[in-house]
Amino acid sequence: MPTLQILPQPTPLRGTISVPGDKSISHRAIMFGAIANGVSHIRKWLPAGDTLATLNAFRQLGVQIEVVEHSPQDWELTIHGRGLHGLLPPEKPLNFVNAGTGIRLAAGLLAGQAFPVTLDGSEQLRKRPMNRIAEPLRHMGAQIAAENGRAPLHITPTPLQGISYTMSVASAQVKSALLLAGLYATGSTRIYQPGPARDHTERMLMAMGVEIEQDGDWVVLHRIPDHLEPLDLTVPGDPSSAAFPLVAALLVPHSDILIENVGLNDTRTGIFDLLRQMGGDFEFLNERVTGGEPAGDVRVRGSELNAAEASGTLVVRAIDEFPVWAVATSQANGLSMVREAAELRVKEVDRISMLAAELRRMGVQMAELPDGFTVTGPTRLQGAAVDSHDDHRLGMSLAVAGLIANSPTLIHDAGCVADSFPGFVETMQSLGAQMGWVGTSH
Ligand code: S3P
Repeated sequence: MPTLQILPQPTPLRGTISVPGDKSISHRAIMFGAIANGVSHIRKWLPAGDTLATLNAFRQLGVQIEVVEHSPQDWELTIHGRGLHGLLPPEKPLNFVNAGTGIRLAAGLLAGQAFPVTLDGSEQLRKRPMNRIAEPLRHMGAQIAAENGRAPLHITPTPLQGISYTMSVASAQVKSALLLAGLYATGSTRIYQPGPARDHTERMLMAMGVEIEQDGDWVVLHRIPDHLEPLDLTVPGDPSSAAFPLVAALLVPHSDILIENVGLNDTRTGIFDLLRQMGGDFEFLNERVTGGEPAGDVRVRGSELNAAEASGTLVVRAIDEFPVWAVATSQANGLSMVREAAELRVKEVDRISMLAAELRRMGVQMAELPDGFTVTGPTRLQGAAVDSHDDHRLGMSLAVAGLIANSPTLIHDAGCVADSFPGFVETMQSLGAQMGWVGTSH
């Protein structure tokens, strides 16, 4: 249970960094590569706690995956695809540890296989809702047993049929699970999304030769080829990881940093829109396309911020960034508010109540709403002993808050930052940030 210590930051953050590969794309690369016909090559794959759980699960399904470890943040994978019908029955339950994306997408994919399988995870994952995928998958004909709608999920093989399904929340995990099951179904699969949920699945499957139509808010899976083309891609840096050094550099006065190779897919860039609206001084440079995804470098300078409000599509496009946004709003002039974000309560932890509890210890004026929160700023933060609650994004948000506090901060149970951002502390240190592991060696 390593503890992270953060000191009040005495100097501006300066330097050039890159962040590890996108977590959403890295999960998908394993799963889609596994069912391709042929060998997929994935560069800058993210070796984080969550994605390694997916890698291990698919090895148990008989998929040969070779790894070249370029650094603790950057692996290159060669995935020997087994084709749509070539996965093998695993000998024991698959363990997705803390990875919600891993278990939900894999459930869709595995609902269409010819063997029974059990999907499970950590105590934390066993608390998260699975009916959002289990119910529509059952409409497609899948047989999934789950006590109280929670993992473990026991899947028994059955034939699947395509459905027309309206999602009640805009969830890329649900959309992706249904599209993957749709690859094994008769007829077409039509999904209505009430907001712009991230579209990495659609982009990657289309690159593999699957015909997917985007018709307004409907995503329609039409023709499924017998053979899926293998993937050959370089994963862009994760914008959700970039958000932590980005907010740190905005808040530490006179900072000036460059974050190279950040994914800038429009379904993911809500945090940039929000911070720019608040007066954040940053620009996108060298915009390009990497691995079928828009990407660019982001230059950020310390900024005075004003309060902002978020709801609707902005919430969908920034859903993972609200913990660190809360830290940014604590330094902004006025009352900031996010609404229509009840989804935050079913992430790794209840990110509204846990975040409010921990940030309040540091002096943040944060109030809970049933579907969001408010923060009144600016407030001078004080250092405190806080807890990540084993939630990577909560841990990294508290670390950013620690940099602008007036005394040292200790974050207990902070090893979870590596669930999505291996090397977070070293990356921040390379910008001059005063943080490091204490007590237990890491
Ligand atoms: C993800 C989708 C989002 C996001 C999660 C990753 C994905 O979840 O919060 O971190 O890779 O599809 P929902 O689909 O539940 O909104």
